[in-house]
Amino acid sequence: MTHLLQNYGTRIPLTITHGETVYLYDENNQKYLDFTSGIGVMNMGYSFEAGKAAVKAQIDQIAHLSNLYENPLQEAVADALDLGGNYQAFFANSGTEANEAALKIARLIKPNTDILAFEDGFHGRTFGAMSATMQDKIQSGFEPLVPGFTKAIYNDVDSLNAAVTSNIGAIIFEIVQGEGGVTPITQAFAEALKAYQKQGVLLIVDEVQTGNGRTGYLFAFEHFGFEPDIITSAKGLGNGLPVGVMLAKQEYAAYFSAGKHGSTFGGNPLAMASAKAVLGALRAPGFLAEVTDKATYLTTLLTDKLLGKPAVKAIRNLGLMVGIELDDDQSVVSVLTAARTEGLLVLSAGHNVIRLLPPLVITKEQLADGVQILEDIL
Ligand SMILES: Cc1ncc(COP(=O)(O)O)c(C=O)c1O
Repeated sequence: MTHLLQNYGTRIPLTITHGETVYLYDENNQKYLDFTSGIGVMNMGYSFEAGKAAVKAQIDQIAHLSNLYENPLQEAVADALDLGGNYQAFFANSGTEANEAALKIARLIKPNTDILAFEDGFHGRTFGAMSATMQDKIQSGFEPLVPGFTKAIYNDVDSLNAAVTSNIGAIIFEIVQGEGGVTPITQAFAEALKAYQKQGVLLIVDEVQTGNGRTGYLFAFEHFGFEPDIITSAKGLGNGLPVGVMLAKQEYAAYFSAGKHGSTFGGNPLAMASAKAVLGALRAPGFLAEVTDKATYLTTLLTDKLLGKPAVKAIRNLGLMVGIELDDDQSVVSVLTAARTEGLLVLSAGHNVIRLLPPLVITKEQLADGVQILEDIL
């Protein structure tokens, strides 16, 4: 009998023992090209020497420090995350926790108001973040949910306009709905949201999956020329060390006054050492431009090789966050299994989308290798 709860269902029958660059190896030393990055976490790949060295040095120095004391490493990471000196950071350990912090500060800023979220969005599994995750399969059975959340249809301006009543204080959304099926926000929808921000509605942008260079910018909202009131991030920020962050505009910082929120492990020195190395790599000259270049290469290749196939309905992306929408008849699971047999790991999203989240350090040759496998399968 297993001593693990079976909340992840039947796991993929692979025992990964180690990783190198963008490859994973199983117990039989079988090699897999990784187009998943551990679901958007290992953006710097498995041989990120700067990160490994920083974490090793940190564990020798001190592994944990409570938030009762000054923490120059947290300051350094918050500084590296800051965009134009406008934000202050709260560190957590995961995406859902970052979103809890965001929802809490939003409530303090706009007392007794509702928060609007979108169908097919995903914000996490804790009660607040789950209540903002407007998917039946995530919420079902957990009622009563946290009150004060309402929903609208993503990328549908009419639905947005109908939902934003005077009692909406904040709107939480992803720039690309990741778990929901890799759906990038449309320019028109982004503009409509920006207009509500001008009227005083807080915009909370969940960059847990889209952040940390994934789309060719530090944060994906930078594609759309606005400054969110609140930003959350996690996943790729620690390249394998658990870290989440909520960034609030400086003008709102006073709402998280002493005692309003906290975390024992949030901003842990090991996570911070890793995050500092990640941000150093992301901010190295040319790194993000290369991500964009590789994303263009990948999507051009996918379009040329896959879009004509009867099973493939659409290819969507923002940077190196890519979705291949299949015909409903085509089982995504069977493609995932066939790819794995051929030595390529890919993800699913929504109900009929293959999701690609390769490490950002992947080469064009490695991208082409992966596309070749998908072409042969499809
Ligand atoms: C956009 C988004 N928000 C929040 C989360 C939750 O993050 P975590 O699993 O670290 O709690 C995820 C995880 O997939 C996500 O993609």
